[in-house]
Amino acid sequence: MRTVIQKPSSAATRKAARLIRSGELVAFPTETVYGLGANALDVRAIKKIFKAKGRPSDNPLIVHVAFPRDLDGLVKAISPTAKKLIGRFWPGPLTLLFRKSKTIPDRATAGLKTVAVRCPSHPVARKLIRIAGVPLAAPSANRSGKPSPTTARDVKEDLNGKITLILDGGPTRVGLESTVIDATGNVPILLRPGAITVEQLERVVGKIRIASAHSKKPRSPGMKYRHYAPKAKLILAENARELRRVFSKHSKKRVALVTYRKNRQFPGIRTEFLGATTASFARRLFATLRTLDRSKFDVVVCETPDEKGLGFAIMNRLKKAATS
Ligand code: TXA
Ligand code: MG
Repeated sequence: MRTVIQKPSSAATRKAARLIRSGELVAFPTETVYGLGANALDVRAIKKIFKAKGRPSDNPLIVHVAFPRDLDGLVKAISPTAKKLIGRFWPGPLTLLFRKSKTIPDRATAGLKTVAVRCPSHPVARKLIRIAGVPLAAPSANRSGKPSPTTARDVKEDLNGKITLILDGGPTRVGLESTVIDATGNVPILLRPGAITVEQLERVVGKIRIASAHSKKPRSPGMKYRHYAPKAKLILAENARELRRVFSKHSKKRVALVTYRKNRQFPGIRTEFLGATTASFARRLFATLRTLDRSKFDVVVCETPDEKGLGFAIMNRLKKAATS
């Protein structure tokens, strides 16, 4: 199978929608990361997603809709908390859990009684879903375990020969995946920190519980897997002293530094400055890890931001990627 990258012209988007309707996979841009989409109501198409990604079958998929009203029929109930969050954050990078209706195949939710739904804001994503006329099941379009793709090229690097079409909407704006919230009960539970911060959410619905990633039976199956990881060994460091310690320990290896501090310079160390804000850090992190892998670095040291705002989501990804 030949994988082509196409700009999302009307013709290309219509072609993508046809592929989806005929049970094929298409990679497409969202405001967070690229998704690998299939008709969420077609079990055979869903199986193809798991196969192309090498994804464990117990890890459920997010279902994407073009409009909030498209939830009707897919879910059994929308709690008052969920309604508030939808009103404030949809379309956008927030995924919500609902009790699923029979319309959604068990395969899509890995047998769970809940389904995760998101209404993306990216115009290409919304147009594709609208023309296809079906909800799209779409995980991030990477091979399982790798950093999520934020460009069409990164998708191709992972899925070449496994899908026919990648719609190229340019680099994604956010760079990290959506926030996942379980709002089916009284107190909303954060399952995955992401583009919408805890602070933003709490302003709308009050206190939120943070699900532990370390419980025996994680609430979100995806939380138990190593994820977002480059080929290089990723080491986290808090300050210049720790950086120097890591550099001297790995002095015989090819070491790169990823940082948000502008004037960081160490002799002989390739340094990637991601910008001074957490937004630019998030936007460029995954793409930078992939670039450093292409240049065959053995060790990547990343200087860690404060775990506030978007920094909380960044640290969640970095900690997972650094666990070996
Ligand atoms: O930004 C995003 O959310 C991207 C774009 C493409 O929309 N998608 C994405 O999908 O990140 P994926 O499959 O890579 O991550 C989905 C996460 C996983 O951690 C999964 O375990 C969790 O959502 N999830 C999905 N359905 C769930 C459910 N019913 N209950 C608990 N967790 C669920
Ligand atoms: Mg993913």
